[in-house]
Amino acid sequence: MRIIAIFLIFTFVFACGEVVAEASPTEAGTLSHEDFTSYSTCNRCHAITTSQWEGSMHYHAFDDPFYKEELKLASEKTNGSLDVFCTRCHIPASVVSGQVPPINNPDISEEAAEGVGCDFCHSVKESSEIGNGGYAVTPSETKYGPFEDSESAFHEAQYSEFYTKSEYCGMCHQITHPTSGVVLDDTYQAWSESPYAEEKVQCQDCHMTPGITEFEANPGRAGSGAPKRDHISVHNFAGANVFVTGILDEDDHKEMAIERLQEAATLEIDIPENAQPGEEVAIKVSITNSGAGHNLPTGLTEARQMWTQVDIKDSQGRKIYNSGNLDINGTIEDSIVYQAIYADASGEPTLKLWEITDVISDNRIAPTSTATEIHNFTIPTDATNPIIVDTKLLYRSAPQHLIDELFEQKEYEVPIVEMESVKGGINGEVESEGTPGFGSVVGLIALLTIYLFRRNM
Ligand code: HEC
Ligand code: HEC
Ligand code: HEC
Ligand code: HEC
Ligand code: HEC
Repeated sequence: MRIIAIFLIFTFVFACGEVVAEASPTEAGTLSHEDFTSYSTCNRCHAITTSQWEGSMHYHAFDDPFYKEELKLASEKTNGSLDVFCTRCHIPASVVSGQVPPINNPDISEEAAEGVGCDFCHSVKESSEIGNGGYAVTPSETKYGPFEDSESAFHEAQYSEFYTKSEYCGMCHQITHPTSGVVLDDTYQAWSESPYAEEKVQCQDCHMTPGITEFEANPGRAGSGAPKRDHISVHNFAGANVFVTGILDEDDHKEMAIERLQEAATLEIDIPENAQPGEEVAIKVSITNSGAGHNLPTGLTEARQMWTQVDIKDSQGRKIYNSGNLDINGTIEDSIVYQAIYADASGEPTLKLWEITDVISDNRIAPTSTATEIHNFTIPTDATNPIIVDTKLLYRSAPQHLIDELFEQKEYEVPIVEMESVKGGINGEVESEGTPGFGSVVGLIALLTIYLFRRNM
């Protein structure tokens, strides 16, 4: 009871017009698991939607090994005082039905163990609060959704505008620490302050349609026997999680996450056309958050990392300059890392979200903004031309040492995704190989821009 009271005080309350209503958040343990229906029932008529959701991080929000290990540690270190807080977003049906906590309940029922599931999501008609799982859930015969004229023999269907708006996702994708009040995940907030909000581009437009960076219609039928519609939503909920989708062998969702990361940013380099041996050269690297409707990176903010790797060699492959490589422990060397760094009560940096009491720094890239880096080096007197400048934008879900500490067998290597790559030459042309897939197009555009820029000098 005390925990609930604390976190209500710190819950973000945003003024977001007509979609947010008076309903107060459903408290833990006030419903029964029998109030919810398992997704296996929804699957009978919504098979395509179900196959998209199965394998998503919503489906895995409960059995995600990274989450489970952190939850165990958080619970131990705080004597269980954050159990309701943490589980409220990751396994909501089990919290409102009183099956969790305890966090290791072995007898959890099928309906409650579904992570962020169909029936939970479609039983939230409205919410009075954004963030910290401030949902009011009313499971019943009625499923709420985006259609005004939907009919089903199995359940009542009711239109709710809430489902079509970012505020819906903001119930869980905005996290404030229950005692220190520090914002731990600002995905909704960053979106709400961005040009996307102004232009009414919602989370759903990028995350529930085939378009990764904008709305794209997906014509089809939403259920068996349902009418053909101009657009039905996609329930893959693809994000950036290449790490855990990989551990859990969700290959399709892993590929979607890679593709999404490769659409998120553009990388440009500005290098001199010519430089003499012994000359000091400065190259400019610009990273633009061109595709994400929130900060880049976002989400599990204390852990996600994005950085550039700059590799400069002469034409015979002799090293001139390097930054952004990993050392043997997997730590990023000599590079600006785009990330938020938080402090614990003693002012030391911490990756443990329950310990966070302050923000030390945050240089993540806001939607449509650009970050610029300058790299300086000297052309060696014996360098052979052309000098090759190879730049990559990289992303990983967590620092390797965090994962090594959580999993004592050290069984997981955190994959690094190449989001973009650009190559250029000093004292001669260098062909860009480009990032495979979508990235290469953007890479080429960046190269072309540099080429045109240099030609016009
Ligand atoms: C995280 C919450 C969430 C989960 C989990 C979820 N949905 Fe949805 N669903 C939505 C939202 C939001 C929309 C409306 C999206 C829009 O219109 O932009 C929607 C739309 C729908 C629709 C309307 C038709 C369509 O596709 O647009 C159906 C049917 C549906 N969901 C069924 C399901 C089923 C079945 C599952 C489980 C396999 C499921 N949903 C899981 C949030 C969720
Ligand atoms: C017997 C078949 C059947 C079952 C079982 C079923 N549905 Fe549906 N559902 C439909 C049909 C048909 C529609 C109409 C789709 C349309 O209008 O395009 C529908 C519509 C919906 C909508 C859209 C409502 C709206 O107004 O936008 C949602 C949400 C939904 N179902 C969720 C669920 C969930 C969650 C489950 C499992 C608890 C479920 N359905 C089980 C057949 C079914
Ligand atoms: C009931 C809480 C809840 C709601 C509502 C919710 N989410 Fe989530 N979502 C989660 C949790 C918890 C996870 C992370 C699970 C994990 O990684 O273990 C997640 C993960 C995701 C991911 C995957 C992130 C990655 O790293 O790959 C995406 C994308 C996402 N949600 C989008 C949405 C969108 C879009 C909406 C609104 C239509 C929404 N979510 C509504 C709780 C929620
Ligand atoms: C303009 C398109 C766009 C909009 C709008 C958008 N996203 Fe994203 N989202 C992306 C792209 C691209 C990525 C992959 C890059 C990244 O991680 O930021 C992403 C990644 C994510 C991730 C994974 C983050 C991580 O690193 O683990 C989550 C969670 C997420 N989005 C949720 C949301 C929510 C919630 C909203 C609405 C408040 C939203 N997104 C709005 C495009 C968008
Ligand atoms: C307000 C809802 C909410 C609360 C409260 C919450 N989480 Fe999460 N959690 C999320 C969402 C949403 C994501 C997905 C963000 C992303 O994709 O980066 C997530 C992601 C995570 C991840 C990353 C999983 C992965 O696969 O990368 C871990 C670990 C985690 N949460 C642990 C915790 C712990 C421990 C607590 C309690 C101290 C907690 N969470 C409280 C919503 C919540």
